[in-house]
Amino acid sequence: MDAKVEHNGTSLAMESKLEPKLDSPELNGGKKSETPSKVSVAILGSGDYSRSLAGRLVRSGFSVVVGSRDPDRNRRLFPQGAAVTNRRAALSGAGLVFVAIHRENYPALQADRDALAGKILIDVSNNTEIHEGESNAEYLARSFPDSTVVKGFNVLSAWSLSSGLFGGSKEVFICSDDNNARKTVMQLAQDLGFVPVDYGSLRAAREIEAIPLRLLPSWHLALKMFLGVFIIFFLYCLYRVVIFRAITGTNQASHIPVSVMNMTFAGTAITLLCLVYIPGIFAAFTQLYNGTKYKRFPNWLDKWMLARKQLGLLSLLASIVHAFLSFMIWSPSYYARLFEQTATPSGDVKYGKLRWSGETFLLFGALSLFLMTVLGVSSIPSVTNAMNWREFNLVQSKLGWAVLIFAIVHNAVYGAEVFTLPGLFSSYTIAVFQLTLVLPAILVLMKVVISLPCVGSRVDRIRRGWERNKPPSRVAAPEDPQEETSLMS
Ligand SMILES: Cc1cc2nc3c(=O)[nH]c(=O)nc-3n(C[C@H](O)[C@H](O)[C@H](O)COP(=O)(O)OP(=O)(O)OC[C@H]3O[C@@H](n4cnc5c(N)ncnc54)[C@H](O)[C@@H]3O)c2cc1C
Ligand SMILES: NC(=O)c1ccc[n+]([C@@H]2O[C@H](COP(=O)([O-])OP(=O)(O)OC[C@H]3O[C@@H](n4cnc5c(N)ncnc54)[C@H](OP(=O)(O)O)[C@@H]3O)[C@@H](O)[C@H]2O)c1
Ligand code: HEM
Repeated sequence: MDAKVEHNGTSLAMESKLEPKLDSPELNGGKKSETPSKVSVAILGSGDYSRSLAGRLVRSGFSVVVGSRDPDRNRRLFPQGAAVTNRRAALSGAGLVFVAIHRENYPALQADRDALAGKILIDVSNNTEIHEGESNAEYLARSFPDSTVVKGFNVLSAWSLSSGLFGGSKEVFICSDDNNARKTVMQLAQDLGFVPVDYGSLRAAREIEAIPLRLLPSWHLALKMFLGVFIIFFLYCLYRVVIFRAITGTNQASHIPVSVMNMTFAGTAITLLCLVYIPGIFAAFTQLYNGTKYKRFPNWLDKWMLARKQLGLLSLLASIVHAFLSFMIWSPSYYARLFEQTATPSGDVKYGKLRWSGETFLLFGALSLFLMTVLGVSSIPSVTNAMNWREFNLVQSKLGWAVLIFAIVHNAVYGAEVFTLPGLFSSYTIAVFQLTLVLPAILVLMKVVISLPCVGSRVDRIRRGWERNKPPSRVAAPEDPQEETSLMS
């Protein structure tokens, strides 16, 4: 039997057992609740989470009763309007029960097994580390088969519950094997000001419980690539400008803290930038090969495509560090050949202004960095949301390629003269600026191929829905901007 309970203008469809029955003064330490009670909700446990949740429920107009092992001691910790009593009394009037105690203490609830029967138990628990197998919610359901268990609210912290949601996500993930119970708890979440997300059956609790323990999940691949590239460049520079020089005495060895680090960050920045734009080319070639865009990309390419934003932001970070380190050591002592040089009568060298090539090199470095900052700003979610697909594509794709070209010019102008210098191929390795040009050169070449009219027009047709092995009727018409927005992750 369902009872409709009006709450904040919305109605909460619940079993009759949820009807308010908790206004009795003895349950509230002698105080009568001031808030007009609507639905009775019990919370087991009187810890941090329970206190914050009780406050939020009371503010939203619910009748709250907390079940504690020691109500007299804990009553004063709860906000006005929340009744605090022993567990059995708390359970007597509520159909919805938040279990706000840690998993290891669930066995202690067996004493109230009969009182929990027929109730909806909301498992809010989290773990301290990700573990395989049965979730806390499944364990609770197995321990109390006469109750209905719903997993949810665990992604909210006690702090975000009490601070009025500022700074935290509003999404609450909810799952249960019982559809009605799940809907009831989703409605409750909505009434508390959250955005409920239906995660299906209780088995999904394994996934929901892992959410608060995840550490930057969307950054894993990009961070691994960043570290790999950084280490390779660092070791390369270390060998070329420190170890080899020190051993052979061919040249003065560079210092590691700024000189080697600067080259390492420069090489990492431009390589990561290439790694942002390579997958788009691979995707185009894959679509050409498949003759359709309706076939999934291989898994590795899918993951790489999804890591582009993070790769771009890490490239921006490396560029900023590189520019900063460069300015710190910006002097003829470090970059003599970029400055005009005149010989004084005494035979010393006097350095003047930057040479033409020096200024060009700096200009393109600065342009590349500043435009990359525009890309970085446009990836802030609120800015991304304010842009339409065309604007986003202009900034991310067109401007992004300009950033890469400017960085290549910056690098090439810097290295151009070095080709004539002796010792370029010493240490059996090529110079860092040459190494950093290899990948950009391959990428630009691939881009040229993909942009050739005969190839580019076919890629465009495929991306508009044309398929090689399908009759012409299947040709989709105009480009669907809705679909493209999926790229704006
Ligand atoms: C600092 C910085 C910040 C970044 N921030 C973000 C970010 O917030 N979000 C983000 O996604 N990337 C971000 N990136 C990564 C990168 O800029 C974008 O992924 C960019 O869109 C890649 O452009 P692209 O030309 O390689 O390829 P694509 O985006 O793959 O596009 C190539 C061309 O093909 C077309 N196209 C592509 N796929 C399809 C399709 N399925 N159907 C029809 N046409 C298609 C597009 O219209 C485009 O003209 C960032 C990069 C940097 C450096
Ligand atoms: N704190 C957060 O930000 C947060 C966020 C998301 C989820 N959670 C989850 O919420 C639950 C409670 O967390 P919390 O931070 O509030 O923990 P807490 O401060 O340690 O409170 C836990 C409560 O459980 C009760 N309890 C302790 N030992 C017990 C036992 N042996 N038997 C029965 N009850 C016992 C106690 O209440 P009484 O003494 O009144 O019985 C205690 O106050 C946990 O499952 C946690 O994973 C917490
Ligand atoms: C204001 C911005 C910038 C300044 C002042 C600057 C400055 C410099 C300097 C001084 C060098 C010589 C480093 C050395 O060999 O010790 C250099 C090289 C280089 N820079 Fe930049 N740069 C800037 C932006 C960028 C950006 C945005 C990128 C790439 C995305 C980049 C990539 C490179 C590369 C690849 C080299 C060659 C590395 C080497 O051979 O040492 N730079 N830059």
